[in-house]
Amino acid sequence: MSILIANWKMNPGTEAEAKAMAKYSDQEGVVVCGPLVFLALLKKTLKRAAIGAQDVFWVNGRGPYTGAVSASQLKDLGVEYVIIGHSDQRRYFKETDGEVAKKAAAVIEAGLVPVLCLGETREEREAGQTQEVVDRQLKAVLSQLPEVKKKARLIVCYEPVWAISGNAAGAGLAELAVSQAPEVAVEMIRYMKRVSESFNVDLNFIYGGSAGAENIDALLKQEEIEGFLVGAASLSKRDFEYMVAACRKR
Ligand code: 13P
Repeated sequence: MSILIANWKMNPGTEAEAKAMAKYSDQEGVVVCGPLVFLALLKKTLKRAAIGAQDVFWVNGRGPYTGAVSASQLKDLGVEYVIIGHSDQRRYFKETDGEVAKKAAAVIEAGLVPVLCLGETREEREAGQTQEVVDRQLKAVLSQLPEVKKKARLIVCYEPVWAISGNAAGAGLAELAVSQAPEVAVEMIRYMKRVSESFNVDLNFIYGGSAGAENIDALLKQEEIEGFLVGAASLSKRDFEYMVAACRKR
């Protein structure tokens, strides 16, 4: 089965809705990344799916950092995966490559798996900088990996910012996101595989950006893509269940 990671972002609005979503998402091979406020509920409700968080602070353990949550605190709650470097964090919270690298190191040190999001914006794509951006964002993290006893595992999600559903719809790029992003993804994953060969890390490469029920079958034909990070479609029972079934057939 391909890796299927649901990124609920700042959804849903209530605990009752979160419970209903957790139920239909509770499938083997799925990771549910809910907002912090629902992680305890996910722990109680999920029997088959794993739990993921959407962000973390770069200091492990505990300390005087108002508003922050550490990887070790997440681990204690039953979290196994942590999204880092999402374009929402880079854009709204001005997260830098250096901070993403520190977060990845903290997550690995705590024994969790970082899900590193990277990818170019629409402007960067139009300026022909896709590979340059991917290269910079990936190497920033790989070059700062901590020494750990067991080989570190990292999931890298190529997620072109322009292909993310909200951005794509707003900019009239929805068609392009569905038709072209998978091709770019394959090219970028091949590139990232080459770049990461010299680093001592166990990597999986997944894709994010308007992945949904209508294009999952086509995406699954690309064998370089080992899984998906799913935003909007993970909020719909019908769409997400379809995606789980499709990923299971692979
Ligand atoms: P969409 O699946 O809604 O395009 O979101 C992608 C994403 O940002 C997942 O992290």
